[in-house]
Amino acid sequence: MCGIMAYIGKKQAYPILLNGLKKLEYRGYDSSGVAIMNGSLSLLKKEGKVQALETFAETRKTEGNIGIGHTRWATHGIPSDINAHPHQSQSERLTIVHNGIIENHEPLKEMLIKHGYKFQSSTDTEVLVQLIEWYQKRYNLTTIVAFSRALQDVEGSFAVVLFDVYDPTKLFAARRQSPMVLGIGEKECMISSDAMPLAPYVDQVVYVEDDVIIETDDTGEYKFFDLNLTQIDQPISDIKNASIAYDMGEFESFMLKEVHEQTEAAHRLITSGIDINIGKNIDRIIITACGTSWHSGLIAEYMIEKFARINVEVEYASEFRYRDPVLSSRDLVLGISQSGETADTIAALQMAKNAGCKTMAIVNTANSTIARMVDQVSLLNAGPEIGVASTKAFTNQLVTFCLLIINLLEDSNIDLAYDLKSELQKLPSLISRTLKANENIVDIAAYISQYKSAIFLGRGTMYPVALEGALKLKEISYIHAEGYPAGEMKHGPIALVDNKMPIIGICNEDKHLSKTISNIQEMKARNGIIILLKSEGIHIPKELADFVIETPRCHEFIAPIIQNIPLQLLAYHTATTLELDVDKPRNLAKSVTVE
Ligand code: G6P
Repeated sequence: MCGIMAYIGKKQAYPILLNGLKKLEYRGYDSSGVAIMNGSLSLLKKEGKVQALETFAETRKTEGNIGIGHTRWATHGIPSDINAHPHQSQSERLTIVHNGIIENHEPLKEMLIKHGYKFQSSTDTEVLVQLIEWYQKRYNLTTIVAFSRALQDVEGSFAVVLFDVYDPTKLFAARRQSPMVLGIGEKECMISSDAMPLAPYVDQVVYVEDDVIIETDDTGEYKFFDLNLTQIDQPISDIKNASIAYDMGEFESFMLKEVHEQTEAAHRLITSGIDINIGKNIDRIIITACGTSWHSGLIAEYMIEKFARINVEVEYASEFRYRDPVLSSRDLVLGISQSGETADTIAALQMAKNAGCKTMAIVNTANSTIARMVDQVSLLNAGPEIGVASTKAFTNQLVTFCLLIINLLEDSNIDLAYDLKSELQKLPSLISRTLKANENIVDIAAYISQYKSAIFLGRGTMYPVALEGALKLKEISYIHAEGYPAGEMKHGPIALVDNKMPIIGICNEDKHLSKTISNIQEMKARNGIIILLKSEGIHIPKELADFVIETPRCHEFIAPIIQNIPLQLLAYHTATTLELDVDKPRNLAKSVTVE
């Protein structure tokens, strides 16, 4: 959450900041701001997306070769011009941008108020910048010393960049549990929340470690310190030739583009394979994740248990990390995360590491915090996913699990491994066919867009697919949606069903089929509007469904991937019918770096 972009060197900072902030908008987009130094400080902040800041800045001074920028996802204080970053200290000597949460901001703020500090905003960030100034003044400290003292006082997570008008050729930065990348250029440096905005400008980056302070100057010099200001080294990584695609091409949104990239992304991953190994002495796999990634974990539980016969449990990372689970060295804890930066998933994996478990992760972002912290990592190789609602990453998470199951079976049941492998080979062309068919989804979406709620139903792996379909719909269309195991409907939720309730029933040719159909019939008998998602060849009573969406026939091993695709499109077209921004839905952020 929140994106940071900073520049120091000889070029004009503002265009670089703006370009970077646009690429970081996936992290939050309720307000944004920049501070640029050129003799005096130009501070520009605006509620709304980065576009609003760009328009606002057109008539303002933006020249200068040192600058810090921020795009915000509000945690403390509503989205507004005042709460937008950068924030300044009382004397306006210090200016800061921050991603993360200062958990003890209240006692610190009380202390500062007692010392005469006044606050403009409701943010925890303003507390941090005031605290640095308080240290500076009270003990007559240099900026970096005051900065390190303040950072030692704060609890929580932060990635911050600090500018001092009395020291106007330098930028200071630090991180703890929030991502930060230093870009090293020719006589210039940049700091960002991820490497993507840096790729056009630099060949080398440092993925800064926790509790490291950076000092950079306008000649491109940089130094790293620990919190006691002992100089340290940080490994440099090469990002030369990193192809970090950032355009929509022929599509009208990133989400639609990413939905259509699934054929290629799945093909790429199936061809390259995976390089992770469950190992011998494992009694149980515990999958932990959030959101869409959690849904892929749930599907994996059904699939791994069915095909590979290993005990699997699936945990919401935000619950797992705090619930004191019984863990042992015979547990493999597997984190799934598109971004590799989700705060709860990081903490859950850390807890597992501390308990002596083996750890593994499936992530889309190489060099992300999760990728770096686990014993083994498998990359999704889906390419950057910009749309907030996850699509191609989910598909490749499921492909990874298919590959993992095949690998596991190669040791124990080579015939089954061979059969499943040949089914998986068919997946890219089946995805392509699924995307091409179903023009009626646009009409069905227009129909759904009139209603306030929807229920998604399925059994077996189609149950987590229902959960994911419901999540997609609520994320981008703001229509209330629930996913349910079809068999559970009669235990309460059926009370909601009437002629204003669309029910999306998901079936597949598997052992659950007749049961699912019966459950959908029960919904029809209560006047529910039935939208049946089924694979070709399944015969249903004529009067059962108001609408039918058909997918190509496929093996149950890959059916969750195929059946999910029309649901992505259904959510997409519902949201566009309602004229909503599918890439940046309200209140959400793609990378959730706060708990
Ligand atoms: C946010 C995103 C979701 C995503 C979840 C987990 O809530 O909006 O789309 O599924 O985070 O993200 P991760 O990067 O860990 O997969």
